[in-house]
Amino acid sequence: MNEAQKAIGVFDSGVGGLTVVRALSERLPCENIVYFGDTARVPYGTKSRGTIEQFSAQITQFLLEQNVKLLVIACNTIAAVAGAKVRALAGALPVLDVIGAGADAAVAATRSGHIGVMATVTTVNSNAYARAVAARREGCRVISQACPLLVPLIEEGWLDHPVTRLTLREYLPPLLAENIDTLILGCTHYPLIKPLLAEEAPGIALVDSSTTTAEAVAQALAERDLLNPQSTAPDYRFFVSDIPLRFRAIGERFLNRPIDQLEMISLG
Ligand code: DGL
Repeated sequence: MNEAQKAIGVFDSGVGGLTVVRALSERLPCENIVYFGDTARVPYGTKSRGTIEQFSAQITQFLLEQNVKLLVIACNTIAAVAGAKVRALAGALPVLDVIGAGADAAVAATRSGHIGVMATVTTVNSNAYARAVAARREGCRVISQACPLLVPLIEEGWLDHPVTRLTLREYLPPLLAENIDTLILGCTHYPLIKPLLAEEAPGIALVDSSTTTAEAVAQALAERDLLNPQSTAPDYRFFVSDIPLRFRAIGERFLNRPIDQLEMISLG
């Protein structure tokens, strides 16, 4: 197998990274994908840096053994606190992540320079988005809001539910009060509530980290001459550390297609 025919490795703390797989499947329909979701140890968004680094190293090791051509950190929390660790382990292999892609898109979209970020507690505390934006453009103001209730509501499938709307009405006002014109959806799950967010934050550019990451992956593969030339249907393999009740139903909602090849493995 030549380099271009190898799969893209995508990983997340659980099921949420399937939003990135979905975006990849739409943008790069000929690419094979190996996905790992740490469903036994999710959520990461409330865990400490040390623990997330340790788990992320184990996942990276597993995906390197799958002989992938590029790694995508689909989890904002992992990208925020363990991106350096993953890159050190990956060596020469290209590693892309949702935070870099989201910051690029936000800087391109903002006019006022006031950018909001919604994310998990750990991502907000890491200040990773503010640093990523500052590295790309001086003078932007990044205002962050931790939204810990959104992940369980979205996994419940309450994408257009009064409780989710009310929750957004708690989380959004501090961001809107700062006159943001761009809002980064800084968590794997949030692209699923984009229609609700568009209603509750009208006129604000929403940066969907799944589509921006898929675009960045397409560019990175093209630059390295690594786009898969196959015209047959791609191969998708999904690995998880646990198969909880309703995993398939939730996963297929995130992915928008059936999950056929699913395997449970234990890490560490
Ligand atoms: N995947 C995580 C993120 O994007 C959300 C779920 C979790 O807390 O593990 O931040």
